[in-house]
Amino acid sequence: MNADAMKQAAAEAALSYVEIGDVVGVGTGSTANFFIDGLARIKNKIDGTVASSEASAQRLRAHGIAVLDLNQVGELPLYVDGADEATRHLHLIKGGGGALTREKIVAQVSARFVCIADRSKLVARLGAFPLPLEVIPMAQSLVGRRLAALGALPQLRAGFTTDNGNLIVDARNFDIDNPVEMERRLNQIPGVVTVGLFALRGADVLLLGGADGVEELRG
Ligand code: 5RP
Repeated sequence: MNADAMKQAAAEAALSYVEIGDVVGVGTGSTANFFIDGLARIKNKIDGTVASSEASAQRLRAHGIAVLDLNQVGELPLYVDGADEATRHLHLIKGGGGALTREKIVAQVSARFVCIADRSKLVARLGAFPLPLEVIPMAQSLVGRRLAALGALPQLRAGFTTDNGNLIVDARNFDIDNPVEMERRLNQIPGVVTVGLFALRGADVLLLGGADGVEELRG
């Protein structure tokens, strides 16, 4: 079974969390795309979606699925999205696709966050995957210095602008011993819009696609 088949299996399993009349928060990335494609089959069951990126909004609309403005919806029952790394504590690194800010907003307003991934994303400790931070352009060097002072190797994601018009700085070599504390700390750096650590509000359910089926972890 290849990684795509495992992602698809996790995405298909997440469809069982969708209930009649839901407005569903939808994430970004290749695993979320499998979820979107599956959601298309049950689109008549839901009242619409809120997308965490322009790319996902476009894919949803191409399937004839309504994409709503979060400001007109308020709280959501369900958010389904992928991750770059996940622990058994359901702490995540997200933002490999650069959509972390909208992802964090949608996660925050959702009663249940179901994270979908292939099994390779499960780690004992976060940080092998470079931690993405969305940064206001004028603060790029300030944020870089602060990250370096914390022991990381910051690298600007070249040629990339977020849906919000900002930069992504990927922080390598981070020792993320305490994800909750690290998220709080990095949130304090002026110019950081969003840190790709999802620990203060992690996932509620983690669905991991593997060769022997989908494993479900709950917080
Ligand atoms: C996008 C994300 C994605 O969820 C994360 O990068 C995982 O992507 P994929 O499902 O393609 O492996 O956080 O900003």
